[in-house]
Amino acid sequence: MKGTVYIYRKAHFSASHRLFDPALTDEQNAEIFGGCSNPNGHGHNYYIEVCVAGVTDPATGFVVDLKAVKQIMQERFLAMVDHKNLNADVDFLRGVNPTTENIAIAAFRQIAPHIPAGKLYSVRIYETENNYAEYRGDHS
Ligand code: NI
Repeated sequence: MKGTVYIYRKAHFSASHRLFDPALTDEQNAEIFGGCSNPNGHGHNYYIEVCVAGVTDPATGFVVDLKAVKQIMQERFLAMVDHKNLNADVDFLRGVNPTTENIAIAAFRQIAPHIPAGKLYSVRIYETENNYAEYRGDHS
């Protein structure tokens, strides 16, 4: 869309997880998922980065009020995952192997319906400084 601006908000959370396929042995899981399949779990300092796309409101110059985005991220995602075990504590990840990719998809679905102006364009989850996944919903 002409004049589209992409605006971003980033937040930190800490959580533990274990990546594994319950049908496989610990050894097979270790081969696929490496250190992330440690049977008793381990933690990451994650970041979530949300991007909203839209045109600016002529009155405010905003695509969307980032205060509202911050609050939605807090209420719909961070409150459920920060200092939690992603395998056991999070309703919207129930039965999901909590890879960076799957967390990004789940976060997008949690946040998208509540964005008050513009459209949720993408959600990035950083599991480390160097490893991150981005989900853009049905458009790309
Ligand atoms: Ni991990």
